[in-house]
Amino acid sequence: MPKVTYVATDGSRCTIDATVGDSVMATAVRNGVPGIVGECGGNMSCATCHVYVDAEFAGPVGPPGDLEDAMLDLGVSDRRETSRLSCQLAVSDALDGLVVQTPEEQG
Ligand code: FES
Repeated sequence: MPKVTYVATDGSRCTIDATVGDSVMATAVRNGVPGIVGECGGNMSCATCHVYVDAEFAGPVGPPGDLEDAMLDLGVSDRRETSRLSCQLAVSDALDGLVVQTPEEQG
């Protein structure tokens, strides 16, 4: 089972055994990870699932698609190079050990 670690702005970490194919957002919501709300249920219309992907995983995760990119521009106040909507990140064995940080505005 791939693991995903969520890092809060205070530095606290929460590591979850995730299911391949689930989104990083759904994994967080199901396990009560603070700071990831997933208000729209993964339809790319709320941006309450915004995370910063750890630099180590930026390559394997890849860039956002066009719609996600537009939503990040519109819905996120502190967008960074590694910003992603976690509802668009699928858990996979290739991403085992993935680390994402919750933005301060969602803390
Ligand atoms: Fe709404 Fe990701 S859950 S944009």
